[in-house]
Amino acid sequence: MLAGKRILLVVSGGIAAYKSLELVRRLRERGAAVTAVLTRSGAEFVTPLSLASLTENKVYQELFSLTDESEMGHIQLSRAADLVVVAPATANALAKLAAGIADDLASTLLLATDKDVMVAPAMNVRMWEHPATRANLATLRQRGVLVVGPEEGPMACGEFGLGRLSEPMTILAAVDAYFAAATPLAGKRALVTSGPTHEPIDPVRYIANRSSGKQGHAIAAALARLGARVTLVTGPVTLADPPAVETVHVETATEMLEACLAALPADVAVCAAAVADWRVARAAGQKLKKDGKGAPTLSMTENPDILATLSKRKADRPALVVGFAAETQSVVDYARAKLKKKGCDWILANDVSGGGVFGQDDNQITLVDATGEEAWPRLDKQAVAQRLAQRIADRLAAGEEA
Ligand code: CTP
Repeated sequence: MLAGKRILLVVSGGIAAYKSLELVRRLRERGAAVTAVLTRSGAEFVTPLSLASLTENKVYQELFSLTDESEMGHIQLSRAADLVVVAPATANALAKLAAGIADDLASTLLLATDKDVMVAPAMNVRMWEHPATRANLATLRQRGVLVVGPEEGPMACGEFGLGRLSEPMTILAAVDAYFAAATPLAGKRALVTSGPTHEPIDPVRYIANRSSGKQGHAIAAALARLGARVTLVTGPVTLADPPAVETVHVETATEMLEACLAALPADVAVCAAAVADWRVARAAGQKLKKDGKGAPTLSMTENPDILATLSKRKADRPALVVGFAAETQSVVDYARAKLKKKGCDWILANDVSGGGVFGQDDNQITLVDATGEEAWPRLDKQAVAQRLAQRIADRLAAGEEA
């Protein structure tokens, strides 16, 4: 049941907008209160009057209506909801959300909201498949926007393919699932490492790697969504700090370890960072200059292994320590060896034999623990994060029962 839940429904333009009326009916039947925001193009397809009758609420349309602003400003509107649902979400609405454009009420409140946003895309199959739309979707997913559909089928334009708005019952099921997903990690503390580390050579040069931090950041966000208090310790990345996560920015492996130890105690630690294995033994205090005597020789020293250090802590070892391993062959064997060597509980072995993973959106994971292994289907990094967070919740719950 959705009793008492407040849904802010944004209806953007498109022939599928009529289905939003059915969605409102279903949401109301389940006890949710619905406030609708209709974009200018949405209003070409459904009338504000039908939305107002079904929601039994005022329908908001224009950003600069003084009466609306004095009754309920757009910021307030975006906050007085438990979930924001955009259905249908046109290619244009998704593009604006991805780019942070706020040029009407709907896009402004989507930028201003502090609540989760669920979008149900609907558009022509070619628009859906366009690289611009793919990129926008990837950006939105990465920011934690929930995506329902679209579905495949014949379209109003006469073509066939992906792009049809999901049926209202499917969107309703996603809303239900959103609220039903309790917060099994409430009261738990999680530590996540993410990104690369930068190891200085001198004040202007450093050694780094291609890690984007996408997977680690997604895991931190997924754990937070399940209610955990999350500290994310990240090396230099271009990603935004995930919402509701305490994010500590570091540069080097040594700093990362220090920040991790400062974040203990934690119930779970997930080491997703691509920590540099070595650093320059003595980074130069001044910029190295060409002196005509050839290239300098860098003497390297080993960095601390954060995963192993956390796994081997005595009093404050997290109940569950999870590491990653990127392998191109004998994935499970190498992962199991790594599990033993580092002393962690789970390794998410990533099969990288098929090509690049760094910076990509997909991962092929096998979860390895002391007793066995489980191959996951190829999933995008958000889905890997969600699945892992749920697994962690199950495991911590099982540990409490034992
Ligand atoms: N890790 C860490 N600190 C390090 C090195 C690695 O915490 N100094 C963690 C990573 O976050 C990851 C796991 O250990 O969870 C990866 O182990 P690593 O030995 O670096 O494996 P690979 O990168 O796969 O390298 P190799 O196969 O060469 O051992």
